[in-house]
Amino acid sequence: MNEITRIGPADGVAALEGAIAPERPALPLAVLAEITHRCPLQCPYCSNPVELERSNAELSTDEWKRVISELAGLGVLQFHFSGGEPTARRDLVELVAHASKAGLYTNLITSAVLLDEKKLAALKEAGLNHVQISFQDSDERIANRVAGYKDAHRKKLAVAGMVRAAGLPLTVNAVVHRQNLHHLPEMIQMSIELGAARMEVAHVQYYGWALKNRAQLMPTVEQLDEATRVVEEARERLHGTIVIDYVIPDYYARRPKKCMGGWGRQFFNISPSGKILPCHAAESITTLRFDSVRDHAIEWIWNESEALNKYRGTSWMPKPCQGCEMAEIDWGGCRCQAFALTGDAGNTDPACELSPRHQEIFQMAKAESEADERRFLYRNFAGGTWEKIDDPVA
Ligand code: SF4
Ligand code: FES
Repeated sequence: MNEITRIGPADGVAALEGAIAPERPALPLAVLAEITHRCPLQCPYCSNPVELERSNAELSTDEWKRVISELAGLGVLQFHFSGGEPTARRDLVELVAHASKAGLYTNLITSAVLLDEKKLAALKEAGLNHVQISFQDSDERIANRVAGYKDAHRKKLAVAGMVRAAGLPLTVNAVVHRQNLHHLPEMIQMSIELGAARMEVAHVQYYGWALKNRAQLMPTVEQLDEATRVVEEARERLHGTIVIDYVIPDYYARRPKKCMGGWGRQFFNISPSGKILPCHAAESITTLRFDSVRDHAIEWIWNESEALNKYRGTSWMPKPCQGCEMAEIDWGGCRCQAFALTGDAGNTDPACELSPRHQEIFQMAKAESEADERRFLYRNFAGGTWEKIDDPVA
């Protein structure tokens, strides 16, 4: 997806929790499908893997329809169309119609720049239930620069208006970082003016492309404190007008986030080529191999796949997680973060202050946040393009 757009329960988005058993949790009731990695935007914090899947590897229309029917048959209730940019697929209307006929609640998570009134009307006609649009800033110049796309912000504003005019509920996704946090109050105001019922303020999570741009994006401790204050104040003031979900960067936390509600417990997403992943960033763990819907039934993958079972429950945990009173609350934090920062996904997430690496990570984040690195490495199929800072996209 072009943004950090997630439906994990830790993020407070419209995910429904499956019944939880320690080792073989029930299938999640909401599934996120990254139907393509193609995207006209180039956000430097994209959570897609650095090795993007090419269009010729994507599941075909018939394969996606089969997957959708299979999920509906398994009792899944919500299907989130994501990417990359899901509207880059020509068969999106057909897939939405199929999901809708199968009885699924459908949500479109989009950058909106490829949408217009006609396409939106077709999607609504096909049964689309909800739209989430990502915004990079409230300031047009910064928003376009972060997106790496010339006219992105104006188009997003226009499409958000069309969504509301069509009577569809709207969520605004705002990914925040050092280079746009000073506009957080304006972003909240923008969401209200757009008629959004919900807003997700998500600090960048550092996997995939974001890890490559960490020094450019990491907020200072002061910025994080101020953002938390702004969100808390807005929640109180705007109670009943808009729901604001808030995802913090855990490099500065004392305990890690309960990432995805625990590995393989409450969430999975499907990659463009059909791999079942326990989180968006799972393929950054290069020591794991993920099974595909092309080779196995979804229920089999959920229950039996080696990768999904690898970090389920607590038996895999090292010390200090093993025996920790938080072990069944945060499930040891984030496996992708543990891999990115320590080289072993089976280590304690260094975001936890009980990890031997915690201080080192905290100091590194602080130092990066105070350095003056602004140039982005943009996400694209060329493997990233460095921004010429003296020639910003605006
Ligand atoms: Fe969570 Fe492990 Fe830290 Fe305990 S030691 S709080 S289980 S990450
Ligand atoms: Fe993969 Fe946290 S993002 S486990």
